Amino acid sequence: MAVDKLDGQQPTWNEVWESSAGLNWFGRQLQRAQFKAIVWMLGELPLSKDARLLDLGCGSGRSLADFRKMGYANSIGIDIAPNSIKVCEGMGLKAGKDVFLMDGTSTSFQSGEFELVYSGGVIEHFPDFEPFVREMTRISNSYVLLMQPNHFSLFRKVVDLLRGVPVDEYFYREEDYTVRFEQYGFSLIGKRGCHFNEQFALLYRRKQLGET
Ligand SMILES: C[S@@+](CC[C@H](N)C(=O)[O-])C[C@H]1O[C@@H](n2cnc3c(N)ncnc32)[C@H](O)[C@@H]1O
Repeated sequence: MAVDKLDGQQPTWNEVWESSAGLNWFGRQLQRAQFKAIVWMLGELPLSKDARLLDLGCGSGRSLADFRKMGYANSIGIDIAPNSIKVCEGMGLKAGKDVFLMDGTSTSFQSGEFELVYSGGVIEHFPDFEPFVREMTRISNSYVLLMQPNHFSLFRKVVDLLRGVPVDEYFYREEDYTVRFEQYGFSLIGKRGCHFNEQFALLYRRKQLGET
């Protein structure tokens, strides 16, 4: 699957990160709200601070920095865009140690290598996100946490109207994700709206033996 292309658009992710100007005021509010939601959701889990965490499609490394801030020292990020890795380096993260250039649909990680795989704002850009779900559920031995835009919320509708949809995004609903994760043996165990429900965090867990 061709992945380094915003569907139907010209700029590649690499070009997006080349001219990245950082977050504006709105982006910073959203980041804060996402961080709070993630702290809350991870706080509910029996996850030790030694747990291996992966940020798939880590972009600027902001969420990875948040995971480190929360004490998850064994967290790393991957991204398909070389310029994203450069931006991460600018944040003090080291390429080849903290962040890796890798395609999230076919990583070099072993099955079950991570306790939790996180991905924020990545898979809604693809008309078929199944390859991401397949890979996330392969390399996570327990949890997958998604942070996704909720284009159906009132606030997001207003934002979309005022700002426009920034890059091609498919308007997926929670069920669209959950059906796919179910196919790969993961069930939805938590959901939290954030930033006036403009985004939702969806937490999936690998089904235990005998669980339907
Ligand atoms: C909208 S950005 C989100 C970045 C970050 N997760 C955040 O929340 O700020 C989407 C990111 O996904 C990355 N990406 C797209 N396709 C990918 C793939 N196949 N494997 C890994 N990363 C990918 C892009 O390069 C980009 O950095």
